[in-house]
Amino acid sequence: MIRKRILSGMRPTGKLHLGNLHGALSNWIALQNCDDYECYYFVADWHALTSDYANTSEIRANTIDMVIDWLAAGLDPNKSTLFIQSTIKEHAELFLLLSMITPLAWLERNPTYKEVKEELSQKDLSTFGFLGYPVLQAADIIMYKAFGVPVGVDQLPHVELTREIARRFNFLYGEIFPIPEPLLTEVPKLLGIDGRKMSKSYDNSIFMSDRGDALKQKVAAMFTDPQRQRKSDPGRPELCNVFTFHQLYSSSKDVAEIPPACRAASIGCTECKRRLAAAVEGGMRPIHERRDYYLAHPEEVRAIIADGNRRAAGIARTTLAEVREALKISHEL
Ligand code: TRP
Ligand code: SF4
Repeated sequence: MIRKRILSGMRPTGKLHLGNLHGALSNWIALQNCDDYECYYFVADWHALTSDYANTSEIRANTIDMVIDWLAAGLDPNKSTLFIQSTIKEHAELFLLLSMITPLAWLERNPTYKEVKEELSQKDLSTFGFLGYPVLQAADIIMYKAFGVPVGVDQLPHVELTREIARRFNFLYGEIFPIPEPLLTEVPKLLGIDGRKMSKSYDNSIFMSDRGDALKQKVAAMFTDPQRQRKSDPGRPELCNVFTFHQLYSSSKDVAEIPPACRAASIGCTECKRRLAAAVEGGMRPIHERRDYYLAHPEEVRAIIADGNRRAAGIARTTLAEVREALKISHEL
């Protein structure tokens, strides 16, 4: 049976939070556990350089931390190929070749380009590399002739650009690349403890690695229904981020009992959060145990990555041979 290939990547942001877990990661794991697919997941460390070129001090440690979280979450190296972008030099070569055929206008009108540039206005992102971010992403994807690319909505413009670049390549040099499909991840809307989008840069995240008192303190600090100031005020669980988390972690009994109790003001937020912290702690236990295991066996993590790099490199080498041939830019001397 030929299995369809799935490919996705993350920039090495370091430790992942529960938003990452219930968003991208859980979807990656579901695809991995589906026999129809062959999954490739990689750390996009070159992409990290597009915005963090001035301070690279954390990229290496962040790469390893992130892979440990992937493994802890349940990515299985016997089923999925886990690798690091910068070890596969073919990504750079394909990026270069694709950059020859990508019209500047496609990159300049990319909505993500404009948004991120404004968001990170403290960094100088008027660079060639940052403008070319989606070209490198296109190279990542078509290198593996991926059928599907699981991403969040924020990445849709990049996958769309990848499709356009692949079509243009095929038109110019022959049908080499299948046109990849974005596989949209439906994500529960998990907010950070301050009620804004959960994001490492907002310092409002509950990390996959948080447990014990650190976890309790974060849960205790979570924003609730803003109209519920005192325990005697009735609350609105449907507007409360704490309850969103209960729906992911708590027993069906609590999920059924909390909303009426909250509306009747018969349960207080302190008690509600105490139950949530316990439920998250329990639900995350297998993940924490795997995390401890890999932290204690760094050589195993290195071997997993080395093996993934080797497998990915095999495909990349084959693709590039085909591409060079199509462009008449290979030389047997
Ligand atoms: N741009 C993606 C992100 O920020 C990361 C990424 C790089 C990626 N290359 C990719 C995702 C290829 C999917 C496929 O999340
Ligand atoms: Fe939110 Fe729970 Fe407080 Fe209701 S009781 S407002 S669900 S924290």
